[in-house]
Amino acid sequence: MTESVCDLRSYMAVAEAAGMLNRISAPHELADVAAALERSDAGPALFEAPKDSPWPIFSGSVSSRRTAALALGCEPGEVVDRMGHALEPANGVATARVEAAAWHDNCVTGDEVDLGTIPIPTHSRGDGGAFITGAVSVTVSGRGNLSYNRMLMLDRNILGFNVNEWRDVGTFMRSRPDPEAPFDVALAIGLDPAVMIAAGVRTPVDELLIAGALRGRPVEVCRGVTVDVDVPARAEVVVEGRIRPSQRADEGPLAEFHGYHGEMWPSPTVEVTAISWRHSPVYQTIIPGWYEHVFIGNVLPREPLLRRFVRHIDPHADVHIPPYGNGFLAVIQIERDNPGTPKNLAMAALAAHINIRNVIVVDRDIDVSQPSELHWALTNRVHWLDDVFTAGDAQGHEMDPTADNRGVSTKVGIDATYKRERREYGERVAYAAVDLQKYLS
Ligand SMILES: Cc1cc2nc3c(=O)[nH]c(=O)nc-3n(C[C@H](O)[C@H](O)[C@H](O)COP(=O)(O)O)c2cc1C
Repeated sequence: MTESVCDLRSYMAVAEAAGMLNRISAPHELADVAAALERSDAGPALFEAPKDSPWPIFSGSVSSRRTAALALGCEPGEVVDRMGHALEPANGVATARVEAAAWHDNCVTGDEVDLGTIPIPTHSRGDGGAFITGAVSVTVSGRGNLSYNRMLMLDRNILGFNVNEWRDVGTFMRSRPDPEAPFDVALAIGLDPAVMIAAGVRTPVDELLIAGALRGRPVEVCRGVTVDVDVPARAEVVVEGRIRPSQRADEGPLAEFHGYHGEMWPSPTVEVTAISWRHSPVYQTIIPGWYEHVFIGNVLPREPLLRRFVRHIDPHADVHIPPYGNGFLAVIQIERDNPGTPKNLAMAALAAHINIRNVIVVDRDIDVSQPSELHWALTNRVHWLDDVFTAGDAQGHEMDPTADNRGVSTKVGIDATYKRERREYGERVAYAAVDLQKYLS
């Protein structure tokens, strides 16, 4: 059935059939409810009548391994394999250009443009305003690129457009003969989760090819109405415009991937030239600084690389980057056969990606999806003098809250496996899982 997913609507139908779509009919504090659903891995949320919004709002498309598996039509244990396959450049599937897009149903351009048409939420109490957080920015410079950029609504046709200088969009703009000239962008909102996942990947190829590889067929794209950009043809909403590198405005703060509110930033602005949308559109948002944000940006694109690194040492090791660890924490799971291997695995994991700072190596009997299980292993299997090593003054992400403003911090490897040679214990206490509904009246 997941083979039929080609847009947000077909994904919602698949989620509903699997009993994983949470329909919320009464108006609610959208971000609080969506965040609670993500925290408990309950599946995506569809707010049917959100406050101050004429359109339904969808959130939590891919916020966990379980939802990623639903989106990709595989088992949760196969998600890393599916990502690894799609990230190989040779497996990319080129897009297919079509003439008619679903979002051709409605279109306004020029003076008619009003971002107030779109129900852009203010998500968190600490946010600096209404931010578009779940749009995929499509840009072109020789090749196409997908990215996420937080965008603050500044006026009826102006957005602040956050872009870290070293992102591909920044490089695209700087490499032009006139780096300050306006630059075409299309913001696609309400998408097939395969496109959402691909947009979180940082790679020197067009990420639409990765989305095609995830689906095993081309993503259909259609040329923008006012910009020379090919946009996913089955998006719910498309905002077109021109990024103005020389016309900057302060935007922020917004909840960041590391779980704090980020700073104000003098960002380029986007002058919006067209807004298009499907009949009965669904607006899609990502709750900033929360599970989906981290899962798309820091977990799915990195686990295949992390696994490749640690499998040099143990070909059967499995990897997990839990979303609540913000991409700084990696967990390696093994069948321990040698007292030294866990620390070698931790060293390999720390080298796999600059963001990885804390590595915990655990045995197979730990359910790594449960933070309480990791805490149990840390509490009962770690001798803190012997089982831990640190690497001071190591380079990490410049926004790592433990690092200085260059991103220099201390990395740590923790062997939380059971050391039978140290002291013998019996079996771990275990009780069978039960369906409580059957027993509670
Ligand atoms: C929900 C979400 C929001 C993001 N917001 C921003 C942002 O505001 N600015 C930015 O530079 N990167 C942001 N990122 C990171 C990148 O856009 C993204 O991971 C992408 O892969 C960048 O790749 P590129 O260098 O190939 O363009 C965000 C990522 C996610 C998942």
